[in-house]
Amino acid sequence: MMSEIVVLSGSPSESSRSESVLKFIGSLLIEEGFSVTHISIRDLSKDVLFNGEFNSPTVKDVTKLIQEAEGVIVGSPVYKSSYSGMLKTLLDILPQDVLEDTPVLPLMTGGSSSHLLALEYALKPLLASLKGLNLKGVYLEDFQIDKTKINNPIIHTKALERLTKQVAYFTKIINSKQTNILL
Ligand SMILES: Cc1cc2nc3c(=O)[nH]c(=O)nc-3n(C[C@H](O)[C@H](O)[C@H](O)COP(=O)(O)O)c2cc1C
Repeated sequence: MMSEIVVLSGSPSESSRSESVLKFIGSLLIEEGFSVTHISIRDLSKDVLFNGEFNSPTVKDVTKLIQEAEGVIVGSPVYKSSYSGMLKTLLDILPQDVLEDTPVLPLMTGGSSSHLLALEYALKPLLASLKGLNLKGVYLEDFQIDKTKINNPIIHTKALERLTKQVAYFTKIINSKQTNILL
């Protein structure tokens, strides 16, 4: 059975560092035989997000994709030492248990290491409140990323090692969950 992974990008930037990393992770997962759906908060209309239109067809589609996913990766830039407000506007209008039983890999990119703990103290509690099963996650600094390198934007060897290790752990958890279900 092919597992469906949803990758959610919380950056409002058209040319986004965090999203370039998410796309790279998506390509690694496809190589591993997973089916990957990318969602960006930029895919939703401003009206839907700003007016909190939780009954809109797009929000229903996003909800269904996330609920049916075997694993979800949530990425955000660090904004004012936390996740982006845009990510929150989307998560606010999803059901409160939308990530129930779902392994979640959190990812953040930030301008410096000073806000490294935004991953621990901002993004992870948010995902846990939606009942996601948080994995350790990855924090990358801007100097470690070249978003113009589409195939692999991570130009820092140690950062790349950390990221591939976390992705491998994420797929291991998903595959073992699948095996348990099938047994
Ligand atoms: C509005 C704004 C606020 C930011 N606040 C922080 C911050 O508090 N701490 C930090 O380390 N970087 C901060 N940054 C830098 C971004 O987190 C960083 O460049 C990130 O990689 C951008 O990701 P993106 O290109 O996917 O949007 C901020 C950037 C912007 C535009």
